[in-house]
Amino acid sequence: MNDQAESLRQLVSSMEQQDTPRTPRSARIITVSSGKGGVGKSNFTLNFALALQALNKKVLLFDADIGMANIDVLMGVRPRYNLYHLLKGERSIQEIMENGTNSLPFIAGGSGLTELFSLSESDLNYFTSQIESVSDEMDYIIFDTGAGLSKETLKFITAADECLVVTTPEPTSITDAYALIKVVGGMEAAVPFQLMINRVENEKEARQVADKISLVARKFLNIEIPMLGFMSDDAHVVQAVKKQVPFSIAYPNCYASRDVERIAAGYIAGGTTQDAGALTGIKGFLHKWLKRTK
Ligand SMILES: Nc1ncnc2c1ncn2[C@@H]1O[C@H](COP(=O)(O)OP(=O)(O)OP(=O)(O)O)[C@@H](O)[C@H]1O
Ligand SMILES: [Mg+2]
Repeated sequence: MNDQAESLRQLVSSMEQQDTPRTPRSARIITVSSGKGGVGKSNFTLNFALALQALNKKVLLFDADIGMANIDVLMGVRPRYNLYHLLKGERSIQEIMENGTNSLPFIAGGSGLTELFSLSESDLNYFTSQIESVSDEMDYIIFDTGAGLSKETLKFITAADECLVVTTPEPTSITDAYALIKVVGGMEAAVPFQLMINRVENEKEARQVADKISLVARKFLNIEIPMLGFMSDDAHVVQAVKKQVPFSIAYPNCYASRDVERIAAGYIAGGTTQDAGALTGIKGFLHKWLKRTK
C-alpha cells in the first residue's frame, strides 16, 4: 500500500513538472451520492447526463457503483467491457467507453474498482493517462456512486470537484444524507455539496427538505449547502425503468423529465462553486485521491 502511494505521488509530481499550460477544457468531476440507497441516484444521474448532453455539453458517465452497477441496465445496453479491463491494461478507454442512449459515452461499473488498491505503477500510469486523455475532450465526468459510506465511495466524493447529494423527503433518507455530508466534512475535504431532492410532490416540499438539511449543516458543520433542484415523484420513472429506456427519452414531457431538464440548464447557468485557483479537473482529482492513500 505504501509503495502504491509512493508511486502515485511520483506520478502526480512528474505530471506537475511537465506542467504544460492547462488545456482549455479539463472536465469538471462530479459525484452523485446519497446516504440511503434506492433514492433515485442512478436514474437522476443518467437523465441529468443526457440533459447536459442535449445542451451541447460533452459528458462522460461513469458507473462507480461497485456493488450494483446498473446504468447499463437502465439504458438496456450490454457493455462488452468495463472498468476492470481498463485497470488491468487490457483495453483502452476508447474501447471500454460504450455508447449509451443518444450516444451518451459511459463506462460500465464492475468489480474492477477495488483493484485500484493493488495496481502496479505501469497499470496506474496507463489508467491515469487514459482518463486524462478523455478528460480534455469532456466538460463533465459524472460518477454515479453507490449509496452510503463505503471507503471507495468516500474516496470518489472527496477527490471530485463537487458532490450532488440525492435525498427523498423520507426522514430516514434525510438523516442519512446529513450523515454522509457530516462524515465527508469531518475528513476536512472541502468538497462543495449541492442537494437534489427526489420524489417530491411539489417545490414547496423540496424546499422544506433542503432547508432542513442546510440549516443543520450551517449550524453544526458551518457549511452552506444549496439546493440544486428537485424531481417530482412520477410514475413514469418506474415505467421507464421497466422498459429499460431513460425516463427523459421514453417520456420527454413527464414531470420528472421537465424537472431534470430544468436542473441541467440551471446547473450550466450557475457555473461552478470552485475557487478559480483551486486544482480542479482530472489532475486535482488524482491529487486528492493521492492524499487519501497517505
Ligand atoms: N422521481 C421518481 N419518481 C418515482 N419513482 C422513482 C423516482 N426516482 C426513483 N424512483 C424509483 O426508485 C427506484 C430506484 O431508483 P435508482 O435505482 O435510481 O436509485 P439509486 O439511488 O441509484 O439506488 P442504489 O442506491 O441501489 O444505487 C427506481 O427504480 C424507481 O422505481
Ligand atoms: Mg444506483
